[in-house]
Amino acid sequence: MDKRERPRVVLGVSGGIAAYKACELLRRLTESGHDVRVVPTASALHFVGEATWSALSGNPAGTEVWESVHEVPHVRIGQAADLVVVAPATADMLAKAAHGLADDLLTNTLLTARCPVVFAPAMHTEMWENPATQENVATLRRRGALVVEPAVGRLTGVDTGKGRFPDPVEIFDLCRQVLARGAEGLSQDLAGRHVVVSAGGTREPLDPVRFLGNRSSGKQGYALARTAAARGARVTLVAGDTALPDPAGVDVIHIGTARQLREAVLKAAADADAVVMAAAVADFRPAVYATGKIKKREGQEPEPVTLVRNPDILAELSADRARPGQLVVGFAAETDDVLANGRAKLARKGCDLLVVNEVGEHKTFGSAENEAVILATDGTETPVPHGPKEALADTVWDLVIARLDQPRP
Ligand SMILES: Cc1cc2nc3c(=O)[nH]c(=O)nc-3n(C[C@H](O)[C@H](O)[C@H](O)COP(=O)(O)O)c2cc1C
Repeated sequence: MDKRERPRVVLGVSGGIAAYKACELLRRLTESGHDVRVVPTASALHFVGEATWSALSGNPAGTEVWESVHEVPHVRIGQAADLVVVAPATADMLAKAAHGLADDLLTNTLLTARCPVVFAPAMHTEMWENPATQENVATLRRRGALVVEPAVGRLTGVDTGKGRFPDPVEIFDLCRQVLARGAEGLSQDLAGRHVVVSAGGTREPLDPVRFLGNRSSGKQGYALARTAAARGARVTLVAGDTALPDPAGVDVIHIGTARQLREAVLKAAADADAVVMAAAVADFRPAVYATGKIKKREGQEPEPVTLVRNPDILAELSADRARPGQLVVGFAAETDDVLANGRAKLARKGCDLLVVNEVGEHKTFGSAENEAVILATDGTETPVPHGPKEALADTVWDLVIARLDQPRP
């Protein structure tokens, strides 16, 4: 691809210990065809040197406005960018950006950029929770920047808490989403909204080593969580059985059984604007849980397994809305009579939207792609052609946004 056709990304790196993780983000961006200009702060160069940024990006990586002045870099870099991502963003950088300071190349670039801007903060919990930082974050979000919630986990030294830099692969994914939305990436149409998404399969234990599970990979639910975060929502992801990494900027609650999923979803739904139930929740669980491993005994047939019903979480959420106007979206995985079964399920469950897709051993489960029809209670049916699970997720959010705050029967 010609250099001029490649999406132009400015990777701002400020002086946090997580600067080394931005090297991985840079590699992902360059290897996927982006033209990346790294703009580190002087502090960032204490952690990772200019040579690394320059060699990995194939572009100069100066920190000051006084270098190559004839090219007017303090204006041109921001003007030409399709996306600016500051990762890691220090408390200091968030403060400077919120106040419009412009004392180095990165802060000048932030003032001249007309494209979407993503900040991935990383710092100690105390710095993150400080009211000054929180107010700066709120200011930046109000102005349309996407400020990713830091992850919870190990911090510098022996500390643990909120403030950890999210997985660079997940930040890369978020950047891709924002870039894919183009000019729309500037409008955070889910900003100020709290959405709850469930994803993955549940595990219903039979004994300490065995469980009843299903083939759900969690990819569709994770795509819903990622796309909602990219559109500015506060996202709670209730994740069942899945091998996927936690998405950047999303609060993830890991659960095992359908009953644990119910508890976590109902709690998170209390103040949610929308709940999307993409998890494959087991309809049944073994009636009896054997506290010791069920043994194979010579000459004896195994005891039959009796199943009992699990709670119907989608029906419960739909019938008892946690707050007025809350939108509930269900998923129907069908193998036969897909649409007819979907329409019947929409009527039975009482949710607002139902995403109906056909599943099978080699269809949908585990795949990065999906195809579906989204049924709405107002009778509209929105077909979503075969494509990435992110595209289906974005269509779900478009339909949700169109219905939020609308009076419904
Ligand atoms: C070892 C070390 C680690 C640091 N890690 C962080 C960090 O993770 N987040 C942060 O906000 N500040 C961190 N700081 C403080 C910043 O480096 C300091 O606020 C600096 O002025 C930031 O400059 P900049 O925003 O221009 O890059 C760290 C400092 C040191 C010495």
